[in-house]
Amino acid sequence: MSTEQELKQAVESRRNFAIISHPDAGKTTLTEKLLLYGGAIHQAGAVKSKRAQRQATSDWMELEKQRGISITSTVLQFDYHNFQINLLDTPGHQDFSEDTYRTLAAADNAVMLIDAAKGLEPQTRKLFEVCRMRSLPIFTFANKMDRPSREPLELIDEIEQELGLQTYAVNWPIGLGDRFQGVYDRRTEQIHLFQRTAHGSTQAQSTVLSITDPKIEEVLDQELYFQLKDEIEIIEEVAPDFDLKRIHNGELSPMFFGSAMTNFGVQLFLDAFLEYAQPPEAHQSSLGEMNPTYPDFTGFVFKLQANMDPKHRDRVAFVRVCTGKFEKDMTVNHARSGKTVRLSRPQKLFAQDRDSIDNAYPGDVIGLNNPGMFAIGDTVYTGQKIVYEGIPSFSPELFAYLKNPNSSRFKQFHKGVTELREEGAIQIMYSKDESKRDPILAAVGQLQLEVVQYRMENEYNVETRLEMLPYKVARWVKGGWEALDEVGRLFNTAIVKDILDRPVLLFKNQWNLQQVEGDHPELQLSAIAPLER
Ligand code: G4P
Repeated sequence: MSTEQELKQAVESRRNFAIISHPDAGKTTLTEKLLLYGGAIHQAGAVKSKRAQRQATSDWMELEKQRGISITSTVLQFDYHNFQINLLDTPGHQDFSEDTYRTLAAADNAVMLIDAAKGLEPQTRKLFEVCRMRSLPIFTFANKMDRPSREPLELIDEIEQELGLQTYAVNWPIGLGDRFQGVYDRRTEQIHLFQRTAHGSTQAQSTVLSITDPKIEEVLDQELYFQLKDEIEIIEEVAPDFDLKRIHNGELSPMFFGSAMTNFGVQLFLDAFLEYAQPPEAHQSSLGEMNPTYPDFTGFVFKLQANMDPKHRDRVAFVRVCTGKFEKDMTVNHARSGKTVRLSRPQKLFAQDRDSIDNAYPGDVIGLNNPGMFAIGDTVYTGQKIVYEGIPSFSPELFAYLKNPNSSRFKQFHKGVTELREEGAIQIMYSKDESKRDPILAAVGQLQLEVVQYRMENEYNVETRLEMLPYKVARWVKGGWEALDEVGRLFNTAIVKDILDRPVLLFKNQWNLQQVEGDHPELQLSAIAPLER
């Protein structure tokens, strides 16, 4: 097979996605069930027990132990129906950080998982905005239909009203809560009635019937049947038409209803997802749009992980392969430094296992041991020089002065702050007032602050102190200081500068932000930092 054919085949058979959700919506449960249907595990519960096992052996980073949570993000890879599926983990809960956003820069598709009783929740909304910025295809899965939940039409309406995202219901629930029995699949016009298995640990058995099959009356109670027919009629009439192009542009979201816990609808979701998801996509670069079948290996770093394995105290750079074929022991160029580097110990990641790999293709993620060379957004390439667009900084929500009480350790303090910032562990800002020289740590999640303090102490030998600031929202100003000077005094706003000396406005809450936006419509504010160029 020629290289071109090999690449084409690899791209066509790969689908990569990340799940965006609010804590507790069921991400872990759904992930586990996808692995179950993908044959990667045979009994659900494995992921969680693995988590328990890991805590028991507790040879992970001290901080992880203290917090009892995982800050080690993973890429899960499994085969299903001749596809290789890469599921990029988006850390949530307390470990929500900028990495959660950055992971979406490496994803080709997103699955928006919502709790059908709660509808849209804050973390989902934030992550949705990043998907929108990238025009990622978004698949919506309304989970926990086995519990009292909102009416499906109400959920659809909320998504459309609040996110401005149209949905295309691919399947439709039959009954809700206790009466949830299965789903109607609009693709095949069949109903799937499921049986519950103990804790949903094995695949759910189902009865499949055409919607026109007279036997339906025997298996489905009349009321549910008529309700289903009514609802199908409504969606056929009012819902937008199926349009794969709009799905791939992120304008139309295929919508699914199910229950990850009982496995209802999980397989149908997976099948439809594979049919509609976009294959590894092209990325913008200094050479223009790079098609994944471009023959030379290229990729970019979207995440760095320090001290994953305390036995090695190493750092791992996660690279999204964009084009060409990656081969073990390859010598590649590092665009930012101009150096060449031999990538001799790549790792593919399945849960917490690190298996060395030989090859990787577009849409894959490889973990590279990083002796401090890589930063977020860095390009690696073979062949002609190329630089990918980079990954922007996202609006931080926690701000704190980082104090160094011991002035004799100034040098180490400065080095630590600079290196951690360059690595992308945290954003750093400074007060406009030159006399206040303490760096302001600007984080998306609490854990980032803790990681910085922990690493300052363990890697740079500096004990630091945090002094929290009362802000929750940051906005960059389009047009910089000039634009800001023109608007004059702003109320309830602190002005700081980022590392590139650009003005950043900090607000105590959304309300203060809205007030400033209302008072100064001429001021253009952005929640995402313009890329450094
Ligand atoms: P997360 O990763 O998004 O935070 O959510 P996770 O999967 O851990 O699920 C959160 C809780 O919701 C878990 O209950 C889980 O069992 C439950 N859950 C997930 N999917 C469904 C579903 O389809 N139906 C119902 N009824 N519940 C669901 P828990 O009590 O916190 O944990 P556990 O004791 O069940 O493990």
